[in-house]
Amino acid sequence: MSDAPAVKKKFSEKGLEFIDWLLGRYPNKQAALLPVLRLAEEEFGNIDNDSVMLVAETLELSPGYVWGVLTFYTHYRREGDGKYLLQVCSTLPCALRGCRDIQHRLEEKLGIEAGETTEDGLFTLKKVECLGSCDTAPVVQVNEKYHENLDIEELDKLLETLRG
Ligand code: FES
Repeated sequence: MSDAPAVKKKFSEKGLEFIDWLLGRYPNKQAALLPVLRLAEEEFGNIDNDSVMLVAETLELSPGYVWGVLTFYTHYRREGDGKYLLQVCSTLPCALRGCRDIQHRLEEKLGIEAGETTEDGLFTLKKVECLGSCDTAPVVQVNEKYHENLDIEELDKLLETLRG
């Protein structure tokens, strides 16, 4: 009998089909890690320790390796992240177009700093590297959606909308 901890989560049937499809398109299981992490995020809402164990087991990787990759990338929703994950691009093109003002405004309005979550669990703020939309700088990604060419006024409206 194995000493490895039991994996508590399971991918859905549709998720397993997607993984099979992926594995037919990548040279090996390790190469499919990023999309499988994304699938776990979509199916479970965020990636916690159980999700890491499931992904590791599914792809026959060590949990430590999966954690290492997960923590290298900022764009996965992690356990404890708020309902809205706000990722503010801080790379040069966005910096030249005011991302620091955006970041400061968010810190001021939310009362948190980058890497923190509001007490009501609504917002997590992260400062990230290039989001790949430099021509529409400055950019803030809210969950899956990009908000581009943002100014302070639009940012305030966005927060109001998200607060509902
Ligand atoms: S520098 Fe901000 S999206 Fe590329």
